[in-house]
Amino acid sequence: MVDDTILWLDACQSTNDEAAKYIRNRQYTTVVAHYQTRGRGRLGRTWHSPAGCGLYLSHIVFPKCSQQIGGAIPLLAGVAVAETCEALGVNVELKWPNDVLVGDKKLAGILCEAQGLPSQWNAIIGIGLNLKTPSSGWPEDVPGVALDALCDAPVDPRSVARTLIRRLDDRIRALENEGTASIFDAWMTRGLALGTRIRRGELEGQFAGLTSEGALRIQTTHGMETVHAGDVHVVRGE
Ligand code: BTN
Repeated sequence: MVDDTILWLDACQSTNDEAAKYIRNRQYTTVVAHYQTRGRGRLGRTWHSPAGCGLYLSHIVFPKCSQQIGGAIPLLAGVAVAETCEALGVNVELKWPNDVLVGDKKLAGILCEAQGLPSQWNAIIGIGLNLKTPSSGWPEDVPGVALDALCDAPVDPRSVARTLIRRLDDRIRALENEGTASIFDAWMTRGLALGTRIRRGELEGQFAGLTSEGALRIQTTHGMETVHAGDVHVVRGE
């Protein structure tokens, strides 16, 4: 039963930090909290985590594949979130590397943290999926959207968590057995449309898909560029 391995908490600082405590003894594979007091986002940002408004979930995996292939885990997690939302009748768009969007608004964010030796490593997949629109609104810098605004029926957080964990585990098995191709294909079918105008720092051009390692390709006026890390912005109105 999946449930025996999930630690359901009322509150914690960050479920990623909490999950790190169970890597060694493997008592739990997943930590879920009702709210986080210091939810962490990518690139040192804060993840706004008000009580009951999000699924704040961290899943620990011990992939039996090289860390190089494991580099696909952030994209894999986006696919698992997309599949979970689709099971609720909500279609999403994935923006490289980790954003789950509906229109221009963010429905979920993903923070993956890997550690260990090349021969024996693990990763914590942290997912913040907006369930309920906060009464205080969204932080100004992150226009958000929540499942309560997108689903007709009420959403049960525990059931969403279980579905998400299954999707993550299925995709990890596929990564171990078949490599990255099916993950990248599944990601591309939900990714921004090819040709979408995007910007990464000084680089601006058209989204041109993924490399065989899952890096981002941007077709600029000066040629094809590859981006391995950072955030990408969609450039609208051109
Ligand atoms: C981002 O888009 O910047 C990533 C956000 C990741 C937030 C989740 S919520 C559960 C887990 N615990 C954290 O502290 N962060 C991740």
